[in-house]
Amino acid sequence: MPGEPGYWAVLKHADVAHVARNPELFSAERQGVLLENLPPERLEQTRNMILMMDPPRHTEYRKPLAEHFKARVIGEMEDRVRELSRALLESADGDVEFVHDVAGVLPSQVVGGLFGIPAEDWPSIRQWAEQSTSQQDPELVGDFDVTAELTKMAIYAIQFAMARRAQEPKADLTSLILAGEFGGKAMSDLEFGSFFTQLVTAGNDTTKTMLSSGLELLLQHPEQLAALRADPSLIPGAVEEILRVANPIHYFRRTATADTEIRGVPIKAGDKVAMWYTSANRDEDVFADAQRFDIRRNPNPHLSFGLAQHFCLGVHLARLEGRVFLEELLARFPKIEQTGESRRIRSNLNNGLKSLPLRLTR
Ligand code: HEM
Repeated sequence: MPGEPGYWAVLKHADVAHVARNPELFSAERQGVLLENLPPERLEQTRNMILMMDPPRHTEYRKPLAEHFKARVIGEMEDRVRELSRALLESADGDVEFVHDVAGVLPSQVVGGLFGIPAEDWPSIRQWAEQSTSQQDPELVGDFDVTAELTKMAIYAIQFAMARRAQEPKADLTSLILAGEFGGKAMSDLEFGSFFTQLVTAGNDTTKTMLSSGLELLLQHPEQLAALRADPSLIPGAVEEILRVANPIHYFRRTATADTEIRGVPIKAGDKVAMWYTSANRDEDVFADAQRFDIRRNPNPHLSFGLAQHFCLGVHLARLEGRVFLEELLARFPKIEQTGESRRIRSNLNNGLKSLPLRLTR
């Protein structure tokens, strides 16, 4: 990395697990979770995001939130996710740019609905989330200023929280968070703004990638796509294999808090340590024939949602969206053809596509 000593790339499944399980030795809080150190004012803005907290503060914030993301609670959203998927696919017919026009729409609607955001604001949420993950792609970055856009999203959330405090509670995550206690006190509007920004960015592009890279993988393996069509009970397993092979996030970083070692390699206090999920998911000590895409792979202990303290809070929601969307897509379109080359987004963090031209035929 220009102008600095670099970072340690942790590549083995067991070593990624070791780093994730020892937050007192590998901190998410000291310098955040990205390889590029953030300027102090940006680092300060991340202080209220649970992704960038260490225990015990992390535990105090995560515990009350985790209640609302349990499998049973998220399971109740299935009908809604199906309804949104159907409406979206109803309007997608013929030639489409699948990443932006189809896959990107559902997650912003689902997250928007989770928070009780009015439907007319869902496109803005999607735009902000897309901009934050496009920062390293000169073609996509255009003339917008990422910091300014993220600030806009936080201001939107702060104003939304203020408005909602003045109203009767509703059956959504916003009301639950505003009524909850984090570290013994209620969340301030500012903290809500940070939390909202994190959830919107965490839940959008990751899910978009799962849906679009997943479909591309299935199109590249027509015999497995045919098997899924014939037996939709294979879909949950296919979603896991899609996540293993097309993990939406390449890595998250930690900072060593003391001199230590990994697999005999000395690591110094202050060193950057990156957990490369992309590599761990292909570890030959864990996955037989690791380079092969196999929707029947079982067990499939991929690390695409991380593990330990920071294990993805939205895991059940992501899996639900993956399963329901695929069920609806395959049921509606008996023929799906790729009409041009897919194009990858330029990023060392987001392992996604920026375009996937398809023809969907009923
Ligand atoms: C396929 C979709 C998704 C993938 C691949 C994914 C991946 C991840 C990963 C790898 C982490 C761990 C970070 C770490 O160890 O530092 C994480 C954490 C998190 N994810 Fe997800 N995520 C997805 C969807 C979602 C959704 C839909 C939501 C919510 C709506 C969400 C919310 C979060 C939150 C809040 C955290 C932080 C948890 C903590 O720090 O305790 N994610 N995610």
